[in-house]
Amino acid sequence: MCGIIGIVGKEEVAERLVDGLRRMEYRGYDSAGVCTVEDGRLVRRRAEGKLLNLVRELAQNPAPGLIGIAHTRWATHGAPTAANAHPHATEELALVHNGIIENFRPLREGLEARGRTFESQTDTEVVAHLVSEQVEAGLSPEDAVKAVLPQLRGAFALAIAFRRYPDMLIGARLGSPLVVGYGDGETYLGSDALALAPLTQKISYLEEGDWVVITREGARIHDADNNPVEREVVTSGASAVAIEKGNYRHFMQKEIFEQPTVVAQTLRSYIRQVDQSVALPQIDFDVTGVSRITIVACGTSFYAGMVAKYWIEHFARLPVDIDVASEFRYREPVLEPGGLALFISQSGETADTLAALRHCKDAGQKIAVVVNVPTSTMAREADLLLPTHAGPEIGVASTKAFTCQLAVLAALAAHLAVKRGHMDRAEETEIVKHLLEAPACLNAALAYDEDIAEMAHLIAPARDVLYLGRGPDYPLALEGALKLKEISYIHAEGYASGEMKHGPIALIDDAVPVVVIAPSGPLFEKTVSNMQEVRARGGKVVLISDRDGIDEAGDGCIATIEMPKVHPLIAPLVYAVPVQLLAYHVACVKGTDVDQPRNLAKSVTVE
Ligand code: F6R
Repeated sequence: MCGIIGIVGKEEVAERLVDGLRRMEYRGYDSAGVCTVEDGRLVRRRAEGKLLNLVRELAQNPAPGLIGIAHTRWATHGAPTAANAHPHATEELALVHNGIIENFRPLREGLEARGRTFESQTDTEVVAHLVSEQVEAGLSPEDAVKAVLPQLRGAFALAIAFRRYPDMLIGARLGSPLVVGYGDGETYLGSDALALAPLTQKISYLEEGDWVVITREGARIHDADNNPVEREVVTSGASAVAIEKGNYRHFMQKEIFEQPTVVAQTLRSYIRQVDQSVALPQIDFDVTGVSRITIVACGTSFYAGMVAKYWIEHFARLPVDIDVASEFRYREPVLEPGGLALFISQSGETADTLAALRHCKDAGQKIAVVVNVPTSTMAREADLLLPTHAGPEIGVASTKAFTCQLAVLAALAAHLAVKRGHMDRAEETEIVKHLLEAPACLNAALAYDEDIAEMAHLIAPARDVLYLGRGPDYPLALEGALKLKEISYIHAEGYASGEMKHGPIALIDDAVPVVVIAPSGPLFEKTVSNMQEVRARGGKVVLISDRDGIDEAGDGCIATIEMPKVHPLIAPLVYAVPVQLLAYHVACVKGTDVDQPRNLAKSVTVE
């Protein structure tokens, strides 16, 4: 995580650096800093907390200069204090870092033994000292960086400014993304194309092990073996427009309400209107030969994958394994030749998911990705790119990306079913019809916003909340619990409805609300029994169902949220809305920072 930007400019850079940080705040927001080079001096300004604090600091103590680097942090090593904020500096240089230096401890001990003193608890500061040692010993910045990079283990994107070299910056990447941007007489470094979008659309993605010297004239890129290399210059297409909240109070709220539009937008790329069939972009290999799918993802994207497992197994009769990415590689999964590995990620940069992707690639798997950022590393490394068209998701808690992922995965399940002969033409047309109904049903679900806002007052005082769901609604229970805990800080757990009686029921008392997600259907009766078990122990049930379900459940719920009656395929998309709105309104009642909840970051680029 963390966001990096660097500018070798022909005009003052501080304000533009801060603007770049603003566009990358989703990567971390616990502290921020800037360092410019002016008259052979490093001018460093840092502040704890939100970027606004750095802006205030710069208003009082400007950082003049035509060259500089900046950083927004998500703390890994050391508390989120000003002293731990980047850039880290020595007499000679200032450095910003995204990633983790795993061997920082022995490196630091070595540096301390050689008499160097540290002012922070970060892993990053060791890199600043290591490079500085070399520069102080008389090496050029390039040679110093070349000498230090092989000593570093872990993941990093680095940008370094040198006091005595006011016309250049050095960047390096291993494991964490870094791009070079080309302007008119200016050159830039950034964690992503989005950060640089107002400055330039002409960018090169550095590859693993690359390091680069940027000057006003351009960039000299070297690979891990220090050979000069060319990296393609592409047009990023990242929007330079500042993303605004409009009339909404929070980005999360805006993004929840965008769902009918963005799901429709996403479905348009997966459904051929002329013959009402499912059509995937880029599926140019024979899916009939696939004998197993391995899905890997993290967090909310993982829950989308869990729903997909139900769908793919149900419709396409194809076995699906699913893992959270942080566990996947380490359990030594058995990957049969010719398998399809499917990775789901909003950002396309999540370190654990990316590492799992590379693991599968090395094991000869065909790689498919469902990502929301088409310029992301995962998108670039995939054989099959299945994009979601949710648009930039700014709220840290994922909402619209989730429903768009579900839309793509539903289309994928149908496509696999057709290709494998488990869905005939009539069934395909029927499924397409239901998929196309999804945006209207999402709209209908959003109409309950005010009721849910009222209901949030019942949930907000709770210390613990349970969510129950069955079948494809079980992952929604997990997602509901995740949303609630991450933005309202209320402890919440999701369980498969039938699993309650095997332990979690011990938690039930009249202080624990239980949110039951249960569209009516063949298994609804079983869920009603699970609700009775909760009620019999004094538990307070909030039921999210359709009219039939609410009627069948009878009295006894403290609240109900009525959803439109929908086909089981699109139920997870539609039922995601009340789950998101409930978490959102509870967080508003509690007054938490909805868009930037504590301790989190939008893009998790460390393992
Ligand atoms: C939760 C949330 C996270 C992400 C997870 C994976 O609201 O946003 O759980 O889903 O960090 O991120 P991506 O999808 O970018 O790989």
